Amino acid sequence: MQELSVRHLLGIKDITAEDIQLIFETADNFKDVLNRPIKKVPSLRDITIANVFFENSTRTRLSFELAEKRLSADVINFSSSGSSVKKGETLLDTVNNILAMKVDMIVMRHSSPGAPHFLSHHINANIVNAGDGTHEHPTQALLDSFSIREKLGDVAGKKVVIIGDILHSRVALSNIFALQKLGAEVMVCGPVTLLPKYIRELGVKVEFDVRKALAWCDVANVLRIQLERQQMKYFPSLREYTLYYGIDKKMLDSLDKEIVLMHPGPINRGVELSSDAADSHHSIILNQVENGVAIRMAVLYLLASKQ
Ligand code: CP
Repeated sequence: MQELSVRHLLGIKDITAEDIQLIFETADNFKDVLNRPIKKVPSLRDITIANVFFENSTRTRLSFELAEKRLSADVINFSSSGSSVKKGETLLDTVNNILAMKVDMIVMRHSSPGAPHFLSHHINANIVNAGDGTHEHPTQALLDSFSIREKLGDVAGKKVVIIGDILHSRVALSNIFALQKLGAEVMVCGPVTLLPKYIRELGVKVEFDVRKALAWCDVANVLRIQLERQQMKYFPSLREYTLYYGIDKKMLDSLDKEIVLMHPGPINRGVELSSDAADSHHSIILNQVENGVAIRMAVLYLLASKQ
């Protein structure tokens, strides 16, 4: 059996193009399972997984939990709100107490960049990073590239623009790594204040005009403005952001080609995307969510075999 080169999924930066292809091929098989009347396989019947979320989530948390249940794993869920974290317990103590209950794998979301990397030096269980602050969100990038592959046949050679708040986005960084490893050309587009100063060093194109970015690309992955991570004002108002960077269906229909519209969610409708764009035939946003379950099943299955 082919194996991943890592025993934790901490970020896309740490894995190879071969790892990504293996995850995609495994996810293809699990997607077939998910389309069957009986959507469950016994693959992780003896494995217990804890979903440990120190930050809000809808898609990622539910998608991991469903993936684990479809694989027949035992699942426990921890949310920092309402927990003993509020009484001063440390991250390491919290996780070690969960592991003492004979848990095999940890899926963790945390607001601090590097939190899962820190844990990986102190615990033996496999760790999956479900988003660490502004750093990486590897399973999101995997499901995004998998969705491009599904829609366009391949990721290699495709032009993908990531539009919006790149500075605060873990999705952007993980997508840049994944898309480049798979042979896509990557552009970022947004106000200069929302692009990291080092961004060109990652080998991406930079565009400030959203209409030019849309005219260039095959795929536009649109991000929300992460107001909760912003300590200062990066643009005058949301209204002005929408005026210059908001995308509506008229803009997409006016292009002389079809492009694919993506968004990792949650969407702020009327800010970065109008409802008529988000719900248009250009959009594969709900396909991304659907594919998230198969991708997470593949990641968990492959990591479990590295125990
Ligand atoms: N895309 C994503 O990470 O969404 P959630 O924050 O709802 O998990």
